[in-house]
Amino acid sequence: MNKVFFFLFVLATLSLTSTSAQINDETFPKIITKNGRHALLVDGQPFFVLGGQAHNSSAWPGMLPQLWSAINTMHANTLEVPLYWEQIEPQRGKFDFSLIDTLLVQARQHHVHLVLLWFATWKNGSNHYVPEWMKNEASKYPNIIGKNGKPVDSPSPHIKEMMEADSKAFAAVMRYLKTADTRHTVIMVQVENEPGSWGSVRDYSPTAQKLFDSPVPAELLKPEVLKALNTPVVAEGNWQKVFGTNADEFFHAWSVGRYIGQVAAAGKAENPLPLYVNAALRDPLTNPPATSYESGGPTDNVILIWKIAAPSIDLLAPDIYLSKSEEIMKVLELYDRPDNTLFVPEVGAGIEKPKYMYEVIARGGIGFSPFGIDSNGEGETEKEMRERLSPIAMEYAMASSIMKELAKWSFEGKIKAAIEREDHKEQKIDLGAWQANVSFGTGSRDVSSEPNAHVTGKAMIVQLEENKFIAIGTNCRITFQPLGKNAGKAWQYLKVEEGHYENGTFKPLRILNGDETDWGGPRFGKTPTLVNISLVVR
Ligand code: DGJ
Repeated sequence: MNKVFFFLFVLATLSLTSTSAQINDETFPKIITKNGRHALLVDGQPFFVLGGQAHNSSAWPGMLPQLWSAINTMHANTLEVPLYWEQIEPQRGKFDFSLIDTLLVQARQHHVHLVLLWFATWKNGSNHYVPEWMKNEASKYPNIIGKNGKPVDSPSPHIKEMMEADSKAFAAVMRYLKTADTRHTVIMVQVENEPGSWGSVRDYSPTAQKLFDSPVPAELLKPEVLKALNTPVVAEGNWQKVFGTNADEFFHAWSVGRYIGQVAAAGKAENPLPLYVNAALRDPLTNPPATSYESGGPTDNVILIWKIAAPSIDLLAPDIYLSKSEEIMKVLELYDRPDNTLFVPEVGAGIEKPKYMYEVIARGGIGFSPFGIDSNGEGETEKEMRERLSPIAMEYAMASSIMKELAKWSFEGKIKAAIEREDHKEQKIDLGAWQANVSFGTGSRDVSSEPNAHVTGKAMIVQLEENKFIAIGTNCRITFQPLGKNAGKAWQYLKVEEGHYENGTFKPLRILNGDETDWGGPRFGKTPTLVNISLVVR
């Protein structure tokens, strides 16, 4: 293990130890880490969030029926739903938790879990969800000032009174949940929403400038930290001197991270549920300037700064609105770290998006969730809703029947995935004694058939034994070849069985043979299909 990874490992272990020390209840939701892989435990077992996120203005009692109908249609096991600071604390110090009660009762009726999203100081970089009493006192709770001296529509992370008010409200929510939710319907809480600032890389107010000109905190000056941040190692200096061209962004990330870290710590002291912060991403491939994205949030380049600034936050999570597979695969790689559990709390629309859930599972991630599942007052019919949600509903229908097993195998590192790219090229999966070749064709018999019309193909392969696998996929075909000591030898299918899982047991539907395996291996069509495969060398 090199020094940087050792440091990340120690950080991960420390946060794990402090969290587990607080929790004796076996059923309490928690994140655990073993051999650099992570799992979310719900009721003591690895759990994969098959989630759906509400539209921003849908967490009101009258809107909930639409949400439950979407959740049921999707076969989701978790609803991600906002809690608005403006609604929870309408008057300073006077809290209204009735929405929490309603959500808990209805989630239980629908047999799903909840991930609560604390829309407070930051929502997409602005302060639009702070209570009215705070909005009415703009001079006490100011926004940041841009480089040109003009105010920007983004709260300042340097306002202690605002941080304390947010911490107090968040702690009250978490304290309330502790008694209202002893059944652990709520499994995670998101602190703020896509924090950071659009329109200015940092706060240029006199207060912020003074801090920017002050020495960089010692935690960030450790040689292993500076190296991981691609910064020359120095013993001291102000932000500009230490971080040069990255100084403005790194200062803002530290400031926003520290603020949210304190809010999170106040909540965690009341109720140690797993907490995360979601990120509005930057282009993960080109290292663009921070003027081109939301600066200060946990983008891939400042994950380590956030880890140090906000140790009470369990994980930093990417919101995926990118479209190219190369970018999305890179993002999944960047947020899957020994010190960071991969969780995708938001995915934008697109029929090709569900395929990335396979990669998240293969990487040992803990969940996946499309954004905006309800019809958002659009007057959609049931039929229109079913059609809109059908790409993800098909995936969740398959995954929910085998979720417990998948989550366990994923934690154990037994799953690998192949995702179709825009060039439709065949993908190879190394399975030790075998290589799986996954091709993405139209489904006609000929293996060299036309590419898929949409880039939706994918497969995940679970390695059960050396020669035994479960394959789940759509719009692809899988064939195998022996590797290692058997490389070059002839082989054949011992048995290929299509079926499904029920309460942990495989229930076969049919044996696939003849045309269904002879033309380049089992073919996976539009609907996710599960196949048990055993192979033999001749
Ligand atoms: C990302 C945010 O986190 C969501 O709340 C929402 O605003 C979507 N963007 C866009 O609709």
